[in-house]
Amino acid sequence: MRKKQKLLPKDTFFQPYMARGEALTYDQIRLRTGYSELDAGDANITSQFSRHLALKIPILSAAMDTVTEYKMAIVMAKAGGLGIIHRGLAPDDQVEQVKRVKFHLNGLIEKPICVSIVDRVETITARREEKGWSFSSFPVLNDFGEVLGLVTRNDFDFCTDSTLMAGAIMTPFDELVTAPPKTSLQQAYEKMRKAGKKILLLVGRDRKLAGMYVWSDLKRLVHDSSSIFTVDAAGHLRVGAAIGTREAELDRAQLLVEAKCDVLVIDTAHGDSKNVYDILRRLKRQYPTVDIVVGNVSEPDSAKRLLQAGADGIKIGQGPGSICSTRIVTGIGCPQATAVYACAKIARGSGVPVCADGGINQSGDVPIALALGAHTVMLGRLLAGTTEAPGTIIDTPKGRFKLYRGMGSLSAMQESQASRDRYRQGNDKRKLVPEGVESLIPHQGNVADVLQKMVGGLQGGMGYVGARTIAELHRVANFHFMGEAGARESAPHDVNIIDPASTERLRQT
Ligand code: XMP
Repeated sequence: MRKKQKLLPKDTFFQPYMARGEALTYDQIRLRTGYSELDAGDANITSQFSRHLALKIPILSAAMDTVTEYKMAIVMAKAGGLGIIHRGLAPDDQVEQVKRVKFHLNGLIEKPICVSIVDRVETITARREEKGWSFSSFPVLNDFGEVLGLVTRNDFDFCTDSTLMAGAIMTPFDELVTAPPKTSLQQAYEKMRKAGKKILLLVGRDRKLAGMYVWSDLKRLVHDSSSIFTVDAAGHLRVGAAIGTREAELDRAQLLVEAKCDVLVIDTAHGDSKNVYDILRRLKRQYPTVDIVVGNVSEPDSAKRLLQAGADGIKIGQGPGSICSTRIVTGIGCPQATAVYACAKIARGSGVPVCADGGINQSGDVPIALALGAHTVMLGRLLAGTTEAPGTIIDTPKGRFKLYRGMGSLSAMQESQASRDRYRQGNDKRKLVPEGVESLIPHQGNVADVLQKMVGGLQGGMGYVGARTIAELHRVANFHFMGEAGARESAPHDVNIIDPASTERLRQT
């Protein structure tokens, strides 16, 4: 039996509202400040998206076709967050996107491209050009797959006879610096640094190749600026992918797991549904070591059922998103602050993190969502306007825009079975009932700029509260209710705001 939960300050705040059946949104509450010894930039914002997946910044990009494909997922992981590749793609295309993220940084190259001892230099060079390989180091193997040596760019550059075989120009095995299989990235880095070698082959006692490290990759990974990256044990960027609940989604899941996708997200508009539990149980049986995050829900009882069914993370939010019309169209939903608080309370102490998905409209909403009990937030609109989001920039006389659409918008549902499934709609395209809209949003620059603002706001909020970590924020946070007058007072008011861009222009003239 689970221990009785200790009452936290925010429980006392929420109790009367919950007793009256009243639910609150982010805009109606503000964090109470507290004694602080913290410089805002010192707040530790590391967190968990799922049981085993840790993040350096608690921010994810949404699994939407106008938000997350490989370019977004790469920058998110490099910023310490995570991208979830949407499921509007055919399984092979989604897997291709996952692979692009996983191979963006090479840590351990598990299956290096090798050449045979009898391959001629001209053949290897032609193959390299044909395949567009940017590298020129190849382990040399015999017919039994045993390592005989290594050829590198130098060997090709100084070879004057292209009819020679690899065996004639390679550095032989006895002269190579090698390491045993399972050598870690850090160990490899140290060994290569000491030996002054740019390639390190991992070779078993049986002389079989177990992997390869390349110095330029390791240097980038071990170097300070990349310590923020979200990477797996082999130094590859991490990425998640959305899946649905149809039978065929089990095949999609298998392909994603084979491509080493780091987390699967069962992505539905109603996570408390029988078909969600069915696929969750089957996936957990089949892939017990793969984390599976499930959503979306907004009721504590739903969160409880997902916990009991073995979800490794729970996503909260039914209708708070900027492009959502679910609540208007169907009449359901719970304002997001209460939904996050109530579901996170159920998951408290379980080791299963919760993600607040949708309705984050400004940086101040991030510390609020986390203080309510969420471990991460998922962003759609705030990232959809960036250069790295899918889609081109649309130039108009009124400025530069990008398309941002709900996965339940009419056009998304007409185009994709996944969208129709997400909103439990049949295949007759004349009878679709949209639960989202299409929009144009201003171009926002780069993801890094947006994330910098979000992280700055979060750390600033933690500084005011006096919380050093997100766990501490969960423990100490409390709120004020803010009515309309409070909201008016909270935003800049009664002044003519000078747009920062125009101030800069004035300064330059
Ligand atoms: P934001 O507010 O960040 O929200 O733009 C993104 C989240 O909205 C959800 N989503 C939808 N919800 N109809 C809905 O009711 C839709 O068409 C739709 N499309 C996306 C989703 O959870 C996303 O992460």
